[in-house]
Amino acid sequence: MKLNHWAVLPSAIALAALAATGVALGEADDSDASPIYGVKLPKNYRQWALIAPAQEAAPLDELRAVLGNDRGIKAYQSKTLPFPDGTVLVKLAWKHVQSPEFDPASIPGAATTVQVMVKDSRRYASTGGWGFGRFINGKPADEAQHQTCFACHQARVQNHDFVFTRYAP
Ligand code: HEC
Repeated sequence: MKLNHWAVLPSAIALAALAATGVALGEADDSDASPIYGVKLPKNYRQWALIAPAQEAAPLDELRAVLGNDRGIKAYQSKTLPFPDGTVLVKLAWKHVQSPEFDPASIPGAATTVQVMVKDSRRYASTGGWGFGRFINGKPADEAQHQTCFACHQARVQNHDFVFTRYAP
């Protein structure tokens, strides 16, 4: 009888470990989570609705697009502030390049970063209710970079729930 128990145990432990990290639920493992905040790239964000584009001057010289999940888009449409828990905003960024086909046109070049803000007012109470993640080639950037996020958003857009982007009609 004892033998049977021992045979079952390892797979039970493996299952428990999988469930604990969310792997059993089909989520990516923890190495994909941002330092400090534990934010991951949301699934299917590329299909989310556009809130607004943006352009950043040199030295970064980037084109950007900010997207939101359904809850975020609804909050924008109803002008709800602060954004409700479960809001997720994603900013895509690319190098700004000149169109090879038409000089005056700017088009996205290489992708640079994907940045994420997740609203969870209890979990992220000390950073305005937002968790932050910056990803490069799908991998989270280092901790030092994540220490900069809230300070800049707090200094400049505290009056708009720490969110810069306004909905572009
Ligand atoms: C020096 C200021 C600054 C820092 C630091 C900063 N951001 Fe932002 N962030 C902005 C600005 C400005 C925008 C508005 C869109 C744009 O111009 O790119 C923005 C927009 C965003 C957005 C879209 C929602 C919004 O607020 O408009 C996300 C998501 C985001 N930032 C995530 C991050 C993350 C993650 C970090 C840290 C790794 C970070 N930001 C650090 C200035 C900053």
